[in-house]
Amino acid sequence: EKGGFKHFMLKEIHEQPHAIQDTYRGRLLASKGIIKMGSVDNNIGKFLNANRIIIVACGTSWHAGLVAEYLFEDLARIPVEVEYASEFRYRNPIINKNDVVIAISQSGETADTLAAIKLAKSQGAFVFGVCNVVGSSIARETDTGAYTHAGPEIGVASTKAFTTQITVLALMALKLGNLKGEISNSRFNTFLQEMTLIPSKVEELLKINSEIEKIAAIYKDATNCLYLGRGYNFPVALEGALKLKEISYIHAEGYPAAEMKHGPIALIDEHMPVVVIATKKGHYDKVVSNIQEIKSRNGKLIAIVTKGDTIVKEIADHVIEIPETVEPFTPLLSTIPLQLLSYHIAVMRGCNVDQPRNLAKSVTVE
Ligand code: F6R
Repeated sequence: EKGGFKHFMLKEIHEQPHAIQDTYRGRLLASKGIIKMGSVDNNIGKFLNANRIIIVACGTSWHAGLVAEYLFEDLARIPVEVEYASEFRYRNPIINKNDVVIAISQSGETADTLAAIKLAKSQGAFVFGVCNVVGSSIARETDTGAYTHAGPEIGVASTKAFTTQITVLALMALKLGNLKGEISNSRFNTFLQEMTLIPSKVEELLKINSEIEKIAAIYKDATNCLYLGRGYNFPVALEGALKLKEISYIHAEGYPAAEMKHGPIALIDEHMPVVVIATKKGHYDKVVSNIQEIKSRNGKLIAIVTKGDTIVKEIADHVIEIPETVEPFTPLLSTIPLQLLSYHIAVMRGCNVDQPRNLAKSVTVE
């Protein structure tokens, strides 16, 4: 049932090339230069006239929502707010007629997200769901939506659900950006071509599994860990930290790299591993100076870099190379080594990777 893998989580990490492909199959028609998504096409007026998009979700799905904030604002120029579903409902939120609410949920059963949807609907909002489980409560409760088609995710730690949620949301942002004239047809086509290359780039990235295992062995006894990233990689840093804490029980925090100097830098000494995502396009020079600040305080640096990087290699204790891609798709690649790192650390610590203590696959209590 685990297809030769020791755990569902490892199997699901390795399924990502196919899962991403299944997500865009039939939607991304690269040779025709179009993105076809029935539920978006049928409601195109609502999306194009949206004053803003409000995203509601929890946990890893909330992190996918944060990536989507960058995607929709950057590519489609639609203002986005990302809300923890649990906070949204208790804040007496302001929902306007032309707001589009997007609810993201792997299980489609998360009680807080479901309650946020009901509230948004009661105030007249159009609610779009991005779910994995077909026929789930959230899929039924939303006005319409798009499934991620990632296949069953059994491991409690969400992996392929996250990358496929980002894939769906990227397709939506690209489509709307193109229709709004924010993305020229030629740039649009470049994005479509690049998306078709993502599965093979993820595949290539999975080959460095044993390299990551070696790094995991060095840091498995850490008690704390920081994850830093900027721009599109900031939500990836949050997600990396969540993956580590939930399955290995190591305290980890994700931060926007530049925020470090406003507090967390006080934590850095020779016992503190810091995972920095420093890919070429996302504010690279700025991240390099953040890296230097960490090194000069003797922090242990694990850097995720773009293949061929030379500058960060000089400074970091360990580097993990990822293939180059367009900046908006970076999270689809930079997430993978972080999933593997937390997986191996958790296994080495003897943790129950697929069923971490105190957690359930779907949280049906508010
Ligand atoms: C993290 C994790 C949780 C879920 C969260 C939302 O690995 O599994 O944080 O992401 O409970 O669940 P869904 O997406 O099912 O609404």
